[in-house]
Amino acid sequence: MRATLWLSASLLIGAVPWLLLAALAAAGRLSAPLAVAGIALTAAAAAALGGWWASQIAAMQQAVRHLATEDTEGFHRHAERIRLPSLGHVLRSLLRIVRGFEAKLGRAEQRLQTLEAIIDLLPNPLLLLKPDGAVARTNAAARAAFGKDLPALLRHPSFRAAVDRAASGAGPQHVELSLVVPSLRDLEVTAIPLAREGAAPPPEVLVVLADRTREHAVERMRADFVANASHELRTPLASLIGFIETLRGPAADDPEAQQRFLPIMAEQAERMNRLIDDLLQLSRVELLEHQPPTERVDIGQLVARVAAGFEPRFAGRQMRLEISVDPATPEVPADAEQIIQVVQNLLDNAVKYGKEGGCVRLSLAPAEASPGSWPSKEGLVLTVADDGPGIPRQHLPRLTERFYRVDKGRSRQAGGTGLGLAIVKHVVNRHRGQLVIESQEGVGSTFRVWLPQGAAPEAA
Ligand SMILES: Nc1ncnc2c1ncn2[C@@H]1O[C@H](COP(=O)(O)OP(=O)(O)OP(=O)(O)O)[C@@H](O)[C@H]1O
Ligand SMILES: [Mg+2]
Repeated sequence: MRATLWLSASLLIGAVPWLLLAALAAAGRLSAPLAVAGIALTAAAAAALGGWWASQIAAMQQAVRHLATEDTEGFHRHAERIRLPSLGHVLRSLLRIVRGFEAKLGRAEQRLQTLEAIIDLLPNPLLLLKPDGAVARTNAAARAAFGKDLPALLRHPSFRAAVDRAASGAGPQHVELSLVVPSLRDLEVTAIPLAREGAAPPPEVLVVLADRTREHAVERMRADFVANASHELRTPLASLIGFIETLRGPAADDPEAQQRFLPIMAEQAERMNRLIDDLLQLSRVELLEHQPPTERVDIGQLVARVAAGFEPRFAGRQMRLEISVDPATPEVPADAEQIIQVVQNLLDNAVKYGKEGGCVRLSLAPAEASPGSWPSKEGLVLTVADDGPGIPRQHLPRLTERFYRVDKGRSRQAGGTGLGLAIVKHVVNRHRGQLVIESQEGVGSTFRVWLPQGAAPEAA
C-alpha cells in the first residue's frame, strides 16, 4: 500500500521533467549523456520526494485511524510526524470537527440522563408500550405501584381497549378502571400515542396512570356522611312534626296529652341541638387539624375540672370515679378547649356504657420515651378505663368513624349521636398524638390518649 503510494507519487513528480529531458534530447538540443544524467537525477529526487509524501500520507492515515478509535495518544503520536502544512491543517480541522461532535454528544447524553431521572421521579406511574403492546419502559412509580402485578393491568379489557384505540389513531384515550389484584384499586388511565416522525404506524403508546382509590373512598365517605347526618336529623325532626300535628289536631284541647308530649318534644329538640353542636365541633377540629396547637397547657388541672362536673352523673348510676393525676405530668402543647372535649367525651361514654354500680378510672401520667413499646416518645398519657360490658373486637377499628355505634339502639337511647369518638380522634390527630382503644367483652374498655411533649419550652 505504502509502496504503491510511493511509486505513484514518484512517477507523478518525475514524469514531466523526464518527458521534457527526453524531448530535448530527441530534438538534439541536449546531448544524450546529459539527458541520461538529468533523468537519473530527477528520478532520485522524485523517489525521495515521493517517499516523504507517502510517509506523510501514511502518518495521516494512522492518525485518523487512532482518532476513530478515540485513542488520543496514538493520534498525537502520528500527527506530530506530519510536516506537510496542508495535511496538518486538514488534520487539525478534522480534530476540531470530532471534538465538536463529542461535546454535542456529551450534552445530548446529559440531557437524556436528566430526562430519564425526571421520568423516574414523576409521582405518577408511567408505562411506555411498544407497537406490539409489550412494555418497553416503566418509571420508578410504576414499578413501585405494580411490581409483579403489571400483567393484570395489561390484560384488563378496558386498559387494552384504550391502548388499542390510542394506537389506531383515535388520539389520547382516557378511561377509569378497577383492579382487584392484589388489592382493590381505582385507576385513571390516560393512553397517549407517541407518533414519531418517519416511524411507521402503529405508534408506541405512553400510558399515564393515577391511583384514585383514596379520592373515591373520601368521596364515598363524604356522601355517606351527608346521608348519615340527614338521617340522624330527620328522625327527631319527624317525631317533632308528628307531635306538633297531634297537638294542633286531636290533642288541641287535651292539656294532659300536651303535658305528656312536651317533655318528649323538648328531648327531641335537645337531641337535634346536640347533633348540630357535635357536627360543628367536628368541622371546627377538622379545619384546624393541619395546625397543631403551640400553647403549653397543664392538662392535670383540666382533667380535675371536667371530672368534678361529671360527679352527679356518676352518682346517678351508682358508679365510682377514681382519679389519679401524677404531679410529674409535664405541660404539653395543647388546645385546652379541645382537650376538655376529649375528656368529656371519654367520661360521657364511660358513664353511658359502663356498668351500673361499677368503677371508672381516670388517670394522667407522664410518658417516657421507650422505643418498641407504646408510647414510643415522651409526653403524657390520659387513660379512661371502665369495667363495663366491653366492645366486641370486630368493632374496635371502626369506633372512631362518624356515626359508628356498636349498639345503635342503646346509644340512641342514651342520647348518643355516634360522633363523640370521631371528635376525640380528630382532636388527637391535631395534637399529633395517638388514641389506643382496648376492650375485652365482659371485662371493660380502656381508652388511652398520648399527647407528645413537643419542642422544649423556652426559658422565661
Ligand atoms: N366505654 C365504652 N364501653 C362500651 N362501648 C363503648 C364505650 N365507648 C364507646 N362505646 C361504643 O362506641 C360507640 C361510639 O362512641 P361515640 O362516643 O363515638 O358515640 P356515642 O357515644 O354513641 O355518641 P356521642 O358520643 O356522640 O354522644 C358507642 O355508640 C358505643 O357503642
Ligand atoms: Mg360518646
